Amino acid sequence: MAKAKQPPIPAEMLPKHIAFIMDGNGRWAKKRGLPRSAGHIEGAKNFKKIVRYCKDIGIENITFYAFSTENWKRPEDEVHTIMNLMREYLVEVRKYFTENTRMIILGDKGAFEPDLRKSFEDLEADTLKYQEMNMGLAVNYGSRDELTHACRALAQQVKEGKLQPEDITEDMINGQLYTKDMPDVDLLIRPGGEYRISNYLLWQSAYAELYFCDTLWPDFSKKELDAALIEFAKRNRRFGGL
Ligand code: IPE
Ligand code: IPE
Ligand code: MG
Repeated sequence: MAKAKQPPIPAEMLPKHIAFIMDGNGRWAKKRGLPRSAGHIEGAKNFKKIVRYCKDIGIENITFYAFSTENWKRPEDEVHTIMNLMREYLVEVRKYFTENTRMIILGDKGAFEPDLRKSFEDLEADTLKYQEMNMGLAVNYGSRDELTHACRALAQQVKEGKLQPEDITEDMINGQLYTKDMPDVDLLIRPGGEYRISNYLLWQSAYAELYFCDTLWPDFSKKELDAALIEFAKRNRRFGGL
């Protein structure tokens, strides 16, 4: 299918899965003398812009880190702002229903208020049939939490006598992850000036190319994403081989 926009590198060189860590909202606001919530609002706007751009240039799988299992430690009003932004997004996102985009929630939905949980579940169910792009939103997500759930699920099968421990494979572990229908991360992008992964997609990023930049997430532009893609295309991925 013809793409709405020409990507900055040849289509066959595009990463199959880009994972974004949307960091720096709070500092963006602080720099402007605004409350942190203003940074989250601006970050949410930018998120929508970048999703649109990824779709237009033909990225097939994207995942965005929006709220971690550790972010519950933040002040209640900040958590509240973020949850309300999600509520707004869940209404708005329905317009993507015509766009052949499957929405996948990465994270344990059990921690959310019932209305939010139901909206996440409905969104996933209603978009299950779409195949042009997988769009993952990581909320209450932590890679260690995800892997712990995977271990429990496989242990349960062993307990029930359906599986022998020595028969557990990497594919079976992969099959227990929220990303089970997506390929591994090819390119992991973290704006915001911190050079760490912060418990995001540890298993899935085993051979991801990492791209860090100092731009704070609300300012992370399409141009900057183009720069990351150009850099990605120059990397020599060896996967342990020669
Ligand atoms: C990322 O921005 C959004 C979330 C973690 C929810 P931050 O809120 O972490 O912004 P900084 O890192 O404090 O600037
Ligand atoms: C990572 O950012 C989580 C999200 C972007 C949702 P944090 O701001 O929570 O990460 P740390 O605390 O700097 O490692
Ligand atoms: Mg941060």
